[in-house]
Amino acid sequence: MNIVILAAGVGKRMQSRTPKVLHHLAGRPLISHVLETAKRLAPEKICVVYGHGGEAVRETVGDTGAVWVLQQPQLGTGHAVTQAVPHLEDGSPTLILYGDVPLIRLETLERLLDAAGKGVGLLTATLDNPAGYGRILRKGSRVLAIVEEKDATAKQRELREINTGIIVAPTKKLKIWLAKLRNNNAQKEYYLTDIVRMAANEHIPVAAIQAREVWETLGVNSRPQLAEIERFYQRRVTTALMEKGTMLADPSRCDVRGSLVCGADVSIDVNCVFEGEVKLGDGTTVGANCVLRNVNVGPGTRIEPFCYLEDADIGAECRIGPYARFRPGSRSQLAAQVHIGNFVEVKASTIGEGSKANHLTYIGDTEIGRNVNVGAGTIVCNYDGANKHRTVIEDDVFIGSDTQLVAPIRVGRGATLGAGTTLTKDAPAGELTLSRAKQVSIQGWKRPVKAKK
Ligand code: UD1
Ligand code: CA
Repeated sequence: MNIVILAAGVGKRMQSRTPKVLHHLAGRPLISHVLETAKRLAPEKICVVYGHGGEAVRETVGDTGAVWVLQQPQLGTGHAVTQAVPHLEDGSPTLILYGDVPLIRLETLERLLDAAGKGVGLLTATLDNPAGYGRILRKGSRVLAIVEEKDATAKQRELREINTGIIVAPTKKLKIWLAKLRNNNAQKEYYLTDIVRMAANEHIPVAAIQAREVWETLGVNSRPQLAEIERFYQRRVTTALMEKGTMLADPSRCDVRGSLVCGADVSIDVNCVFEGEVKLGDGTTVGANCVLRNVNVGPGTRIEPFCYLEDADIGAECRIGPYARFRPGSRSQLAAQVHIGNFVEVKASTIGEGSKANHLTYIGDTEIGRNVNVGAGTIVCNYDGANKHRTVIEDDVFIGSDTQLVAPIRVGRGATLGAGTTLTKDAPAGELTLSRAKQVSIQGWKRPVKAKK
């Protein structure tokens, strides 16, 4: 099969400098959704017809194996497909998709291809308000043609069966029909839809099927429509999660921009956003207002409210947050039963089983062993202004509050660091190390008093 994705339209109603197909749905450009669905059909060829802001589209989408075809100027959907003709293989049918219709499902396209067989297939929809769309003209049950709204008679405009734009046609015939298109219509455009009349005239069967869900065929023309389609997408994702046993406090306040895989009995409170690839193990809970991006969470772990966690593998039965921050970079790895508390930032670090950093701490480029207690206000000074350095804290270390560890540095197994220490040399195993000015008390000292005027 050949697939042609039309993406050259200007998208004026978006009121944006960004080409329409680069606007995001669920964290990815619209066109990426369509390309992904197209690829799952395993076609021989995918052609993307681009135009307006084309270079940006190509750059953003990157190398997908698709053929990029420039349409300049844009003279209509038929003209757009014509640009792809040299790339289309005659032996297999050609499916036309729209870059701004992102929610179309694989299963629907497969049904359309089946229904079309060696003829033409149209994906249609029956709408309460068909305004703006091309209408399907039939004689009895036979499809005769598609008439665009602007060319339709008042009587034709009453028809509620519309063209979604998704069409499949035998390629050899398609090429002949495209060459015959004329733009003698209300919009002076070359309409792809005119091939339907040509097929019907040649008694080539035209099958019309409908998607199971109307939202599959909705197009994005404006920002309100994009927001609406985003909600359809999210509802589809959250419904699937709940059906597989995930508890969402409120599915309308959970957004998945990537993939979220949940084990059994996962519970997610309101206002959470999941980006990239997130996995939550059995029995994990995620508190309100968390953002998780590219994170794996082990079974039984509790993520308290207001955490922003990126690029981390978190072990079983950990407690994270509230207000914890895991920064991106190389992934952080937490073993089981680690506690990371409020206002603790972790970056590119590994933390061993049972270790705790409960309050106001920075841990960066650090390797922490098992059962380490990191006191409140501890800072790992990993950056000297030019380079990053590593810190190693061995098993069973106790770090007193308000300690700074100036990397590169090592704290030996079982060492204790006194509160307020600025550690600039390695601390030996099993010893108390502290750096502190000697405490003095000045007897009879008086506080200054305000001078009289
Ligand atoms: C088109 C259909 C109409 C259908 C509607 C569904 C035609 C003539 N009409 O109308 O029957 O009901 O879609 O939304 O096909 N595009 C290009 N190059 C162009 C023109 C358009 O690549 O020169 C692309 C657009 O980026 C868009 C798609 O084709 O992805 C549809 O274009 P649009 O202008 O929205 O078509 P409509 O007039 O809405
Ligand atoms: Ca449109």
